[in-house]
Amino acid sequence: MKRVVVANSYESVKELWIDNQRGLISRPKNYTFHKVVSISQGFTIGTSPWDESCKNRRKVAAAAVNRSAIQSYLHIFDFESYEIIRNLFRDSCNGRNEINPRSYLYAYALRSSLSINYGIEMRSLINDLVPEIFQVESEISGFRGITNNWQDYIPILRLLSRKNTLAAHYRARRDKYMKILLDGLKSAIEKGIDGPCIAGNILKDPIAKLNSDELKSVCLSMVAAPGEIIPATVMQGLGYLSSSHGQEIQERAYQSIMENYPNGQVWEKCIQEEKLPYIAALIQEILRYYPVSPLSLPRESISDIVYNDAVIPSGTMFLLNLDLERYQDPERFDPCRYLDEKPKKGFVAIPHYTYGAGSRMCFGNHLANRQMFTLFTRIISAFKIFPEKNFDPEILNAVSCNTNHSSIVAKPKDFKVQFVPRDQEALEGWLRKSGECLK
Ligand code: HEM
Repeated sequence: MKRVVVANSYESVKELWIDNQRGLISRPKNYTFHKVVSISQGFTIGTSPWDESCKNRRKVAAAAVNRSAIQSYLHIFDFESYEIIRNLFRDSCNGRNEINPRSYLYAYALRSSLSINYGIEMRSLINDLVPEIFQVESEISGFRGITNNWQDYIPILRLLSRKNTLAAHYRARRDKYMKILLDGLKSAIEKGIDGPCIAGNILKDPIAKLNSDELKSVCLSMVAAPGEIIPATVMQGLGYLSSSHGQEIQERAYQSIMENYPNGQVWEKCIQEEKLPYIAALIQEILRYYPVSPLSLPRESISDIVYNDAVIPSGTMFLLNLDLERYQDPERFDPCRYLDEKPKKGFVAIPHYTYGAGSRMCFGNHLANRQMFTLFTRIISAFKIFPEKNFDPEILNAVSCNTNHSSIVAKPKDFKVQFVPRDQEALEGWLRKSGECLK
């Protein structure tokens, strides 16, 4: 049995998550995830209760993906977005083949975050491991769900549960690839053939701020956190763009690209700079409209919290339920809500809680925004996105598009879209040039 507080309004989240940051700084421990899945590699940062070690891991990892650190990963965004667009172009045969973008997006996100953590120099090792990591991490994310592991709340079920065996099975498979990756990086460092990356920086730090278990936890956070959540977000965004209203949005996005980069420089420029307010607004609207982690990650209070006339005791679990009602016309998909029309259509940040809030808010948000900016800008410059013949309107709604409501990250329905090149010659030119530079 567990006491849980669910905050349902924007204001209550502000009061509990932001005004009471210190009190809500911890994460709960659950039997299946913490005592069965995680006993060997330790916890990710996002599943660690608050203590001195969590504080240090969080500090090091957050510094490695902040706005300025991202500059050292731009070559990775360049390479991975080139690869996914090349593959979509090849497989869609000028739009004749409808494509389910899921596997392309998962490979893109996983390879990007593994390269950021272990270095793009480890690319061939990473490519070999991607299918296994993808499968194991999707299964493990099921064990993190708050509502799908009854044995977390009813201890007697632990004696009988098949979940223990399954969790142990995936833990063993995870241990194997985590070791291969770290050993690969250590050997590259010894040979002097490693590149800039998060784990390498920690290993080479002369005044090692993290011990080897803490390093494992940072690596695990980089493997587990973005691999599922970015593809789920982008996939739902592509689904919306393929709809009839999405056609108008694509055209506006394309116009803004052409206004800013009339001579086709967008392909290179969108790696170096983030200067397209309409695309930035589109990404925020996708995040708001399709929140991929609708109950965020659970928190646990470390002190009593007074809320109105109630005292919520220390050790309570808190869930953040996203509140759409605070937006004007909340069910309308409209990137313009983030654009100030006067004087120069600038981007205006309107807070949403898709990245959480307060002391344990997602610190990968700059990285995620930048990765999605590059990807959407290149995809919209390269293709017109049309719906599949059997278009399913359920993909236009965040709730009906999600096939697994008990998982911590939404699992979008399978659907297909058509990627039709806007200008085949220009696209082939971009791909040829990138292919040569990135060899
Ligand atoms: C669309 C992209 C993403 C979304 C929507 C997202 C969402 C979230 C949410 C809701 C939380 C819980 C925040 C809270 O408790 O207040 C979180 C935590 C976290 N995210 Fe993300 N995330 C995304 C991408 C990333 C990326 C790219 C990274 C890679 C660095 C990342 C790393 C983390 C970590 C390490 C935590 C745990 C922070 C802590 O517990 O202190 N996330 N994320």
